[in-house]
Amino acid sequence: MGYRDVYASWQQNPDAFWMEQSKSISWDREPSKALFDEEAPLYEWFSDGMVNTCYNAVDRHVENGRGAQDAIIHDSPITGSKSKITYADLKDRVSKLAGALRAKGIEKGDRVIIYMPMVPEALIAMLAVTRIGAIHSVVFGGFAANELAVRIDDAQPKAIIAGSCGIEPGRVVDYKPLLDGAIDLAKSKPEFCVILQREQKEAELIEGRDFEWSAFQENADPADCLPVEGNHPAYILYTSGTTGAPKGVVRPTGGHLVALNWTMKNIYNVEPGEVFWAASDVGWVVGHSYICYAPLIHGNTTIVFEGKPVGTPDAGTFWRVISEYNVKAFFTAPTALRAIKRDDPKGEMIKDYDISQLRALYLAGERADPDTIEWAQRVMQVPVYDHWWQTETGYTIAGNPVGIEALPVKIGSPTVAMPGYDVQILDEGGNPVSSGELGAIAVKLPLPPGTLPTLWNAEERFRKSYLTTFPGYYETGDAGMIDEDGYLYIMARTDDVINVAGHRLSTGGMEEVLAGHPDVAECAVIGVTDQLKGQLPMGFVCLNKGCDRPHTEVVAECVKLVREKIGPVAAFKLAVVIDRLPKTRSGKILRGTMVKIADNEDFKMPATIDDPAILDEIRTAVRTLGYGGA
Ligand code: COA
Ligand code: AMP
Repeated sequence: MGYRDVYASWQQNPDAFWMEQSKSISWDREPSKALFDEEAPLYEWFSDGMVNTCYNAVDRHVENGRGAQDAIIHDSPITGSKSKITYADLKDRVSKLAGALRAKGIEKGDRVIIYMPMVPEALIAMLAVTRIGAIHSVVFGGFAANELAVRIDDAQPKAIIAGSCGIEPGRVVDYKPLLDGAIDLAKSKPEFCVILQREQKEAELIEGRDFEWSAFQENADPADCLPVEGNHPAYILYTSGTTGAPKGVVRPTGGHLVALNWTMKNIYNVEPGEVFWAASDVGWVVGHSYICYAPLIHGNTTIVFEGKPVGTPDAGTFWRVISEYNVKAFFTAPTALRAIKRDDPKGEMIKDYDISQLRALYLAGERADPDTIEWAQRVMQVPVYDHWWQTETGYTIAGNPVGIEALPVKIGSPTVAMPGYDVQILDEGGNPVSSGELGAIAVKLPLPPGTLPTLWNAEERFRKSYLTTFPGYYETGDAGMIDEDGYLYIMARTDDVINVAGHRLSTGGMEEVLAGHPDVAECAVIGVTDQLKGQLPMGFVCLNKGCDRPHTEVVAECVKLVREKIGPVAAFKLAVVIDRLPKTRSGKILRGTMVKIADNEDFKMPATIDDPAILDEIRTAVRTLGYGGA
């Protein structure tokens, strides 16, 4: 069967399609049906089945003869260490930690925050939490204490599992002061913390609250897997929305297992036993789905890579890992390739490695620009497949279903909608537009298994953010078009979300931080085009009347404030003081026009602009930062 047949078979009978896929998962009680639509437009999948995530990702492979196969390879050029964990070892380590957590009172439904660098213990912690039916929420290490505190208050974890430090090129990131600071800031206090001590920087433990990772589990009885309902949350992952308050995307257990397992063969074209590598971070959705869960659920070997595409030690590091571990399918963000291309434009470094066993490169997380795709194809000599998805879905909405049939690649398009997704382009009134026309990208409800059923503690926000603009559809927040062959093109976000080095960030959140500066009366943050990171945030601040402090001082404080409040990952370094912001007569800030000026693109003068002269001031301001055609 080709792609079109598979897609049609899903369209004709979605329930039968997903029930068939669900057979690849080991259920403790099989679900009676796939879709539960009684609460439409809220949908759930496999709700009356009983199943355990960890059992499917670990134990069943040991029972089926994969005990001696590597489950996790840790490769850390930044610390100079390498290690491997077989499925049998993984089962022992996970069940021991799970037993210790349970003995300390963690029960089904309790939340556990995980704040760890790229070490295998991060995956062990995630699996241990799901093993006992608790719900993890992994927080990316590049976020500051304040962001961690916001997540602690929303998830209200009973426990936090953290590393003592992370390692960035040139500096050790001390996690413990960030963790302690976040717990101080948060209203909700965890009962205890488990700290993995790393030799690069050991943390001081707080007596009675903090437990050292090994000592914590020393005498624990291993825990068995606890079956949970198919709709039980496996995890919560916070992602940026329009405001500073992150959205807690809920991942349901049953659909997550079924859908991720489906993607491994059909999209990534790997067989169980083969090595799959996603170079991302466990703090992002790519890390959840494709460093941890999908490869393990499918019986692959996954790689936990602690390093950067360049500088650890050089632009050949990805090629070394691919060659050394016999990677068959590789997934990363376009920004990582742009970094390699910048350091090694001719791809000389790849010549030192044999990557001939690699079948394909998969790109996602941001727009894949044609230059990067063509460069990667030329240098790596493999097909390059762009695919489009979001934290909310957890896996591909549109991609090239290579395991079913490799469709012709059209550069600039992530290819076609996957079974499960009825993707449509809508105009402002919610009517489908013709092929080739731009509009909002929406997915006809219900979304497929594994996608978010709601937001944690925020059902109203879920409805408002995703279900209200286009009744009967899920609003993706992206704009684009579909061509006459059904190929999708993702052009832009329709909200205040920007994408910096494949990291999703909220300009609204940065504005909230800047507005908190005592001298700032008003501000705007926009995303400007950047050759390496795709986009960079740029801030414009207007000072309070009477404030005569040097602008450079205020700007430096603003930059520091965003780093402190959101974290280094915001990469907020461009800011400028201006007299006034360009606005419409009704007071709406014209951010879109500001972006065009900063990117030095043509634009139409907004008809509703209050005072067109301000745009000249904006142009002068962005030029001082080296943008706008400077
Ligand atoms: N913990 C602490 N700090 C972190 C961090 C972490 N886990 N990850 C990043 N940071 C810091 C960086 O050290 C940097 O700090 P600096 O301002 O002091 O230099 C800052 O956050 C910005 O990081 P980043 O945007 O990653 O920029 P970079 O210059 O360090 O690296 C790339 C640029 C392109 C090499 C890098 O962004 C990359 O590899 N991107 C791939 C993205 C990816 O995998 N995305 C996941 C979605 S698929
Ligand atoms: P995240 O939730 O962090 O994965 O970010 C999701 C957003 O990143 C999407 O809504 C898009 O705006 C963007 N994105 C992800 N993948 C792609 C892609 N292949 N092409 C264009 N944009 C993408």
